[in-house]
Amino acid sequence: MPRTVIHNVTLATMQQGADRSAGFGLVENGALVIEGEQILWCGPQDELPQQPEDATNVDGHGGVLSPGLIDCHTHLVWAGSRANEFSMRLHGASYEEIANAGGGILSTVRATRAASEDELYQLAAVRAAALIDQGVTELEIKSGYGLDTETELKQLRVARRLGATLPINVHTTFLAAHALPEEYKDNSDGYIEYICEQMLPQAVAEGLVDAVDVFCERIGFSRAQTERVFKAAQGFNLPVKLHAEQLSDQDGAALVADYQGLSADHLEYLSEQGIAAMKQAGTVAVLLPGAFYFLRETKYPPIDALRAAGVPIAIATDANPGSSPIHNAQLMLHMASTIFRLTPEEALAGMTCHAAKALGQNESGVLQAGKQANLVLWNVAEPAELCYQFGVNPLRQRWFKGRAVHD
Ligand code: NIG
Ligand code: FE
Repeated sequence: MPRTVIHNVTLATMQQGADRSAGFGLVENGALVIEGEQILWCGPQDELPQQPEDATNVDGHGGVLSPGLIDCHTHLVWAGSRANEFSMRLHGASYEEIANAGGGILSTVRATRAASEDELYQLAAVRAAALIDQGVTELEIKSGYGLDTETELKQLRVARRLGATLPINVHTTFLAAHALPEEYKDNSDGYIEYICEQMLPQAVAEGLVDAVDVFCERIGFSRAQTERVFKAAQGFNLPVKLHAEQLSDQDGAALVADYQGLSADHLEYLSEQGIAAMKQAGTVAVLLPGAFYFLRETKYPPIDALRAAGVPIAIATDANPGSSPIHNAQLMLHMASTIFRLTPEEALAGMTCHAAKALGQNESGVLQAGKQANLVLWNVAEPAELCYQFGVNPLRQRWFKGRAVHD
């Protein structure tokens, strides 16, 4: 199997634990060996075992080598534009008012239903390419702009196709319970039944679903409705996650924790109870600084309390047309620190090891023997630079499943 040896680098292994407690897991003067799709060895260069003569050698010139970034919460597949609503907000309307007037998510639904699978693929591929250029090697993509079987499945097929054609791992999340479609106006229980009895089973039968999500909110679905969808997911042995406590406290985080959920996402209005339940269940807190910023939210997620409780924190773009039209993972590292005051160590963990946990996998997100060789070599002398500067792409080179990715 082909081997690549990357030497003369500072490794940000992101291994968390007793000996490398909650930091970058730094190894200065490090080296890493790739064999096939995996990391074979990593550690201090002076302990590097003898390598075969035909191994490819890469001089890192003192840069930082980290795991590829993982964006664990996106809504990447959609058509249309919400620039008009952006403008309405600047004229004084609120996000909730626009949604209640039939705009918001429903306006993207109309455009997404009208687009062909190929058109959606082209639109989403451009967004994915932007993330890949910034060092993202793994992405979650939700449905939720179809709200009927045909379009939800169309979105998920596009997500699978992105994973098959681009140098990136894609995890799909079924989010049909994102908003109430016009056909079910005044019959939200009927829509939930349609999701559980028809849409989800069909999406699962086509192999399109890795996890199930719900928007539990005043303008989304109630706790009871969320629970119905979670039970249906359980019936298929699928893990759940939740858009929780974004605009108000619905006690959603405790609910998703009850179902051993992978993550509760947004969390501006999260309560102490919710934190305790998440801690107990091992549910990851996914914070979305882009949505916080773009909606000009003023209530911060309870970051100190999450930290004190030891709940793992992930960071994601939430890339979507309404609340976070921002396709930039590096900006999220920057905003996690500047807006949410996460330390650079926490921010990078949020887009590597903790993001992997939010996706329910432990194949990537750290530099360690046996993990998938998804790596980024950065033109920086220390990892804190990745949060500090913004605007010049520091990515020098990257590998996906052990292979160098060339533009
Ligand atoms: O994560 N909260 C619900 N869903 C998206 C927004 C979707 C939209 O406005 O189109 C979010 O913020
Ligand atoms: Fe979202």
